[in-house]
Amino acid sequence: MSVVLITGGAGYIGSHATSVLTAAGHQCVLVDDLSNSCVDRVRWALSEAKGNARFIEADITDIASMHEIIRSTSPDAVVHLAALKNSRASLDAPAEYDRVNTQGTAAVVSAMDHANCHKLVFASSAAVYAKSPNALEVTRSPTVPTTPYGRTKLESENNLGQLVSADHRWNIAVLRFFNAAGAHPTSRPTSHEPPVSHDLLSTLCKSTESSGPPVEIMGTHHPTDGGTAIRDYVHVMDAAGAISKVVAQLDLASGCHIWNIGTGKGTSVFQLIALFNSIAGRTVDTVQGRPRSGDPPQLCR
Ligand SMILES: NC(=O)c1ccc[n+]([C@@H]2O[C@H](COP(=O)([O-])OP(=O)(O)OC[C@H]3O[C@@H](n4cnc5c(N)ncnc54)[C@H](O)[C@@H]3O)[C@@H](O)[C@H]2O)c1
Repeated sequence: MSVVLITGGAGYIGSHATSVLTAAGHQCVLVDDLSNSCVDRVRWALSEAKGNARFIEADITDIASMHEIIRSTSPDAVVHLAALKNSRASLDAPAEYDRVNTQGTAAVVSAMDHANCHKLVFASSAAVYAKSPNALEVTRSPTVPTTPYGRTKLESENNLGQLVSADHRWNIAVLRFFNAAGAHPTSRPTSHEPPVSHDLLSTLCKSTESSGPPVEIMGTHHPTDGGTAIRDYVHVMDAAGAISKVVAQLDLASGCHIWNIGTGKGTSVFQLIALFNSIAGRTVDTVQGRPRSGDPPQLCR
């Protein structure tokens, strides 16, 4: 059994990763400032962990706190998920995304180094790509982020790569997540929960709960079959499973390794809405809108 500290542990992927990691026999320490989560989500994660996890409320950009937390909890590995993740919002707040995502990652790494913990899983994103990468040659696929969010992820990846080159004690796994979707069967959104995501699937689910405006389809003239954007949706339990598998392998592979976490199967916005309508048994109102700035037409593993 090892101790795994999860930054952003109260978040969407983090709470599911807690469930999977504790089921695999790890003790988890969840660190989160709850800026995009809530106490009920923490309760769910802790109940899934069955006594094998605890929660510490803290901001990863508070360097002194991070040093103290990592020193006092002595994790064997850190899964670093805490970040701002809204590509669209990052266009309006690039400095804040740099502060939390890039500098926050540096603070976590510094605290780990001081505590002599050198095993890290870093949550990167498909947002480092402008188009679908070559599934078999991750490291040779061109990385051209189209938003400040994607740039913070790529910059952190580059910093981690340099760190490993300079200090061979580090074992780092970079996971470039595609679009996580779905939920653990016992996970339920609560009324206190902030909008953890602005992705299409969440928007479709919310549209069935209230009589709000129609769901906007952002771009119907993309150079794709059907004209809407195509994305790779990976179930959040599979994303959490990937984290757990990588944590188990961290001892075996020194250096910095990069993986794409997706299915390789693309689903267009039109296809997703049609599937949603057929499962929900109703037709969601939609309206055609303009494409979002920085939104690649197609991104699949
Ligand atoms: N969900 C996806 O589809 C997806 C896709 C690609 C990459 N990612 C990456 O995976 C990671 C987890 O994503 P998620 O979907 O679970 O997001 P999320 O927003 O649900 O979880 C992130 C958590 O980090 C916390 N947080 C934010 N800033 C913090 C800070 N300064 N200090 C402490 N905690 C802070 C939030 O409160 C939240 O609970 C992120 O790094 C994200 O960029 C997610």
